[in-house]
Amino acid sequence: MEQLMRNFFLFLSKNKTLTKLAKKYGFKFGASRFVAGVDIDHAATKIKEINDSGYAVTIDHLGEFIDNEKEARESADECIHAMDIIKEKNLDSQISLKLTSMGLDVSEELVMENMRRILDAGKEKDVTVTIDMEDYERHRKTLDIFKELKKDYENLGTVIQAYLYETEDDIKELNEYNPYLRLVKGAYKEPQKVAYPLKKDVDENYKKVIKLNLENGNYTAIGTHDEAIIDYVKQLEDELNLSRDQFEFQMLFGIRKDLQEKLMKEGYKMRVYVPYGDDWFGYNMRRLAERPANVMFVLKGVFKK
Ligand code: FDA
Repeated sequence: MEQLMRNFFLFLSKNKTLTKLAKKYGFKFGASRFVAGVDIDHAATKIKEINDSGYAVTIDHLGEFIDNEKEARESADECIHAMDIIKEKNLDSQISLKLTSMGLDVSEELVMENMRRILDAGKEKDVTVTIDMEDYERHRKTLDIFKELKKDYENLGTVIQAYLYETEDDIKELNEYNPYLRLVKGAYKEPQKVAYPLKKDVDENYKKVIKLNLENGNYTAIGTHDEAIIDYVKQLEDELNLSRDQFEFQMLFGIRKDLQEKLMKEGYKMRVYVPYGDDWFGYNMRRLAERPANVMFVLKGVFKK
């Protein structure tokens, strides 16, 4: 049953009509459980609060199915504007973005031009940019673009998904770039020929690549809410004699706040991934897919309005 619901929400997350309707009818249906606000001004207030409570942040301007040059350029402009706000308000925040929002599905020239604009602004304002990893169809292209840009920009990171069979090879391949990597389990529906179908295998592979990346000496962001994985990282901290400057934990806004607080109080660097914007539908459906029980929270949000 849970698997069926998972597939159902992942199916919804790819629906363009529902995405458009959700954008048009605004910030309803419990969107605010996972999304910080419709624009950067609302999000900035939230980020300040989060920073003041002891957490670092990375913000993500939501944007799904961008398939034309105009919207991709606007998306890049929004990232640059967000960096201005980060600098102006002295926020402790990085930026996360998706290459499809920057025009990946339009042309490689466009995505490179947008990314260079963003990274130049990031260099000037001292803001790190992480490229989120999307579905498998875009996995190779994303890594190639990351490698190309990494030659010119220090302030760049990307994401590796443990559910893919290729993950270990990717970590080995990226090692020469001294990458800033966020390691996650993976949020998309992928076929068995490219990704582990069973959670236990994903978890095992996740542990393996976390260890590998830390042993390689690369800065590692562990993006998970899974306590067993977090305990494993703590164990590695002792085993490999790691400095706490070499890794951080990251969690999504609105998820496992108790655990975020616990880790922060234990002295770990804890970064919260804060999405904002009106294009919240696909993002929220992926969160529901991860934990269908969230539907109850979302429904409560609807009835409160
Ligand atoms: P798992 O799914 O096993 O969950 C462990 C526990 O965490 C659950 O039992 C529950 O308690 C809690 N939990 C997990 N998800 C929850 C939810 N939605 N609501 C409430 N509780 C929940 N993916 C991707 O493909 N590309 C990317 O770029 C990113 N980026 C990213 C950034 C950051 C900072 C994070 C934390 C995650 C991502 N992800 C991602 C998503 C990631 O791939 C994964 O889908 C989720 O983190 C859920 O997996 P967990 O590791 O939390 O474990």
